[in-house]
Parts: sequence; C-alpha cells; structure tokens
Amino acid sequence: MSGKQEIKIIQETFDINAIYARRVFASVNISNFLEEARQIITSKPKPFVKWVGGKRQLLKQFRLLDLYPPDEFDPEKARYFEPFVGGGAVFFDLLPRKAYLSDLNFELVTTYNVIKNDVEKLITSLKKQKYNKEYYLKIRSKNPERLSDLQIATRFIFLNRAGFNGMYRVNSKGGFNVPFGKYENPLICDEKNLRKVSKALQNVEIKHQDYKFVLKKAKKRDFIYFDPPYHPVSKTAAFTSYTSQGFGEKEQIELRDTFLKLHKRGCFVMLSNSDAPFINKIYSEIKKYGVRINKVEAGRAINSKASGRGKITEILVTNY
Ligand SMILES: C[S@@+](CC[C@H](N)C(=O)[O-])C[C@H]1O[C@@H](n2cnc3c(N)ncnc32)[C@H](O)[C@@H]1O
Repeated sequence: MSGKQEIKIIQETFDINAIYARRVFASVNISNFLEEARQIITSKPKPFVKWVGGKRQLLKQFRLLDLYPPDEFDPEKARYFEPFVGGGAVFFDLLPRKAYLSDLNFELVTTYNVIKNDVEKLITSLKKQKYNKEYYLKIRSKNPERLSDLQIATRFIFLNRAGFNGMYRVNSKGGFNVPFGKYENPLICDEKNLRKVSKALQNVEIKHQDYKFVLKKAKKRDFIYFDPPYHPVSKTAAFTSYTSQGFGEKEQIELRDTFLKLHKRGCFVMLSNSDAPFINKIYSEIKKYGVRINKVEAGRAINSKASGRGKITEILVTNY
C-alpha cells in the first residue's frame, strides 16, 4: 500500500506540504501514524533568524495555488536548491534530504555552517551574551573580518535577536547598522531549535557564493527556488541592503535568464519577486516557453488575472 490516504490525512491535519507529509509518513508506524506524525511535526526545526523578506507567511498561499511544491519533484531522487537562502523558510518547510543552500551574506552562511558543525560550542557561547544596549553596541561595533567563525555566528544570532525588528542592514561599507531592539526578554539562545537545525543541516551543503553556482550543479528534475532581493515597487521603496552590493535591473535580467536556462534543462523552478511592472515585463518575455506568472497576496491567493488595486501582491513565477 502506498499510504496515499494516510499521507493526505497527515497533510490536512497538520496543514503541511505534500513532500514533507510523505517524508513523515515514511518514518511512522501505520498502526499509530497520526500520533507519531504529530510528534515528528511538532519537533520540526524552524528558521533560526528573522529575515526581512522571509517567506514563512506566504508558503500557505503557494500551496493553496497548488504551485508548491511541484507535484513531480521527488526528493528521494533529485535535489533541492535555495541559492538566496536568507532565513531559509522554504528549506525548513520542505526539509528535503539533499539540499544545496547559499547566500552572498558571508556572516549568515558562516552561521549556518557553525550550527551544522559546532552547535554545542555555539550554544555555550550564546548563553554568555548579555542583553543591554551598551553590550549590544559593543558587539555591533566589532569587525567580523577579525573574528573566528564561532564568534561570527554568536554575534550574528545575538544581533538578530537583540536588534530592532530582527533586521539585517548594512551600509555601503558592509558595516551592520541596525539599532538596539528594546524587547522585554528576548530569547537569544533557542538551544532546542539550534540542535534541531544542526541535525537538519547534516546532509546539506551551505556555501557563500553567488546564486549562479546553481547553473554548474543543477540537473534535470532538481527543484530550485529563487527568492532574490525584491525589485522596488516604487523608486522610494528600495530595500536591497542585505549585502553591500545591490541587486538592480541588470541583475534581475540575469536572474531571469538563469531561470530560463534551468527551465530548458528540465529543472523545476520557482521564483518570488515583487509585483513590479519591470518584473512582470521581463518574465512575460519568457511566457512563450511555458513559464507562468502567478500573483500571491499575503493572506489570500488570487489568480493571475486579478490585479486588485491597492492590495499588496507579489509574484510567484513557475515553469511547471
Ligand atoms: C529575499 S531574501 C531571501 C529570504 C528567504 N527566502 C527567507 O525566507 O528568509 C534575499 C537573499 O539574497 C541574498 N543575496 C543577494 N544577492 C545575492 C546573490 N547575487 N547571490 C546569492 N544571494 C544573494 C541576500 O543576502 C538575502 O539573504
């Protein structure tokens, strides 16, 4: 028996994606599957950083539109790529067995790798952090280039938890410049989750590199999710300061061309961006190859015809 019905029950009961539901089903006893599934799902790791542009709240909309994950993607045979990983909301949602993650933010990538390889030392180090403004400013002023990997990861998580709104923003010289957060009692060291994340990363390669590396690695039937810095909807709304290099029109076009190459290779490709005229234009140019532009609204899914003036929509481009 394939367990199709049980997988569907797991998926609906816990409101999770089909791929993860299949994986959960594979590790439970059929006689007690729902209770065992509950235990696995409630102890699932979650993103360890707050990240601007994080996709957690939109994932459900992607699923309702039946665009995520791609039906035909088989994580037992093919690999998952997230080349603009940030907080990794989609990676943590799917939890694929074999994945390649990367980002151009060096401190973020170092932190992923320290969690993967040295989580106990990181937990000990995080527990020593103090939550007050003076200490925050002292840690913020350190130059990450002079720190060890463990210190970079400690500083990165500490600043993300203690800084204003969990933002990551750097100036043109790459200096972190987010103000102190003034929270009641922030959880600087979520040790349980860090250990789970570490376990989940054991089969994962995480590198500091440009998203284009994916062209060297991805093969037919692999699944690639691109979540680049969004194109500004208006000239004043720009937020592209995750790294000291920006992501302008030229970069968006190069990314579109990368999308098309992967499509022609037979990969499953999904891409998020803002619903800006420029982005619609460049992806409309490749519709003739079978690429689709879908509109997603936070809180509600709408189809590609509804334009909904005044509502904040994003686009989800897919080739399947
Ligand atoms: C919109 S965020 C990704 C958010 C992520 N999906 C999440 O859920 O948290 C974009 C990410 O792209 C990274 N980035 C910017 N330019 C890049 C490039 N050329 N190659 C790879 N990553 C890049 C940024 O550091 C940032 O983490």
